[in-house]
Amino acid sequence: KGGSQAGVWWGLQTLLQICYQTDGKTFPGLIIKDKPAFAYRGAHLDCGRHFFSIEEVKRFIDLVNMHKINIFHWHLTDDQGWRIESEKYPELNRVGSYRDSWGFGSKRTERYGGYFTKDEIRDVVAFCKERFIDVIPEIDMPGHTVAAIAAYPELSCRGKKLRVETRPGIHKDILCAGKESTFEFCFGILDEVIELFPCEYFHIGGDEAPTHEWKKCPLCQKTIKDNGLKDEVELQGYFTNKVNEHLKKNNKTLIGWNEILASKYLDRDIVGQYWTSQKDPNVVKHIKEGGKIILSCHSAFYFDMKLYDVTTKNSYTFRPEEHEIPKDMLDSVLGYECENWSEWTENKDELFFKIFTRGLAVAECVWSDDSVKSFSSFKQRIQKHKEFADALGIFYGPDEITLKKNYRFKKKLAKEYGLSIHDFNCEYLMSKRYINVEHIK
Ligand code: ACM
Ligand code: ZN
Repeated sequence: KGGSQAGVWWGLQTLLQICYQTDGKTFPGLIIKDKPAFAYRGAHLDCGRHFFSIEEVKRFIDLVNMHKINIFHWHLTDDQGWRIESEKYPELNRVGSYRDSWGFGSKRTERYGGYFTKDEIRDVVAFCKERFIDVIPEIDMPGHTVAAIAAYPELSCRGKKLRVETRPGIHKDILCAGKESTFEFCFGILDEVIELFPCEYFHIGGDEAPTHEWKKCPLCQKTIKDNGLKDEVELQGYFTNKVNEHLKKNNKTLIGWNEILASKYLDRDIVGQYWTSQKDPNVVKHIKEGGKIILSCHSAFYFDMKLYDVTTKNSYTFRPEEHEIPKDMLDSVLGYECENWSEWTENKDELFFKIFTRGLAVAECVWSDDSVKSFSSFKQRIQKHKEFADALGIFYGPDEITLKKNYRFKKKLAKEYGLSIHDFNCEYLMSKRYINVEHIK
């Protein structure tokens, strides 16, 4: 019995999980009364840096959904690629969806890219609906927009001609916040994307938006002056508020990374997603003023990080109180989300290697009440999940790992495998099962 259809679905996932722990045929007699600790249980996938096929995206969704994840946060645009079809702005796909080479330091020189058609997006949204998952699209703005600017140079302050990025990192060319035409573009593209996603939330990124260009741009500076803003940080607040007004007209709630909370004049009906490692006092200010947040703490939930930097234990033992969220304000936390950025994740094997087993830890944390959690019990239970992953052909990473980081050691090991140090990456080798953790202890 469930309080809703979704509740019954999550109950079925529990039943499945009991199957892995037994022989799958007989069950212990038991009664489970259960409910989620958090309503928002998210998994994010970056398809901008590396592109994944619809089948791979669905496989990812199925895997996380079996662990009661109910939000798929789909990162669809970035400096290195625009990954969603636009009929209004076709250059976003013709130019913005392709980069000159594979990029990210790879020696592969062929053109790289692709995008999801609107029909493919509709198909994924329907697939998720059947699994009680909401899909939140992310169209990052005003930063992480080199691919859009490569397609439409007039979107930037100086109209510079750019190529779609092949390098990682933060890029200083961003959307100009002083031109009405920028907002026309943003609203135009948002309208097109909104139509495809019924979810109440809409993510506009807003992270890592350098202000170099805004400082030099007469139009951005005029907007600051005309609106009585103090500086470029407040100009981003002005930008966010304008986009928020537009989203609200479409019955959407804006989500943005915690950088957007820096401006003083910000509507508090937006949701901040707290990812930065450095403590951000603006997050606490936001919740004290009535705002909501999602927690994606870098040291616990960033699965693009190395397995020895963000360990399964870090993910499992994460507690909001230790990240300066006051205990009496936990009601402001909608939930947690794990982040799967793809600069260093080129294919589905690497993706699954990184998410499994850390993703299981996050899934348990966001579902189970703190009082019933136990890391030693978790470690024991995931051994059975590994058999299940093996049966499905899913690569997975070790749950605890002690990799030596020292260069000489890696060089020696690389030589043993006939690789240059440049090509050598322990995790990559492990993901290919060329070596296992015992070799590199
Ligand atoms: C982020 O990782 N830049 C949100
Ligand atoms: Zn400007």
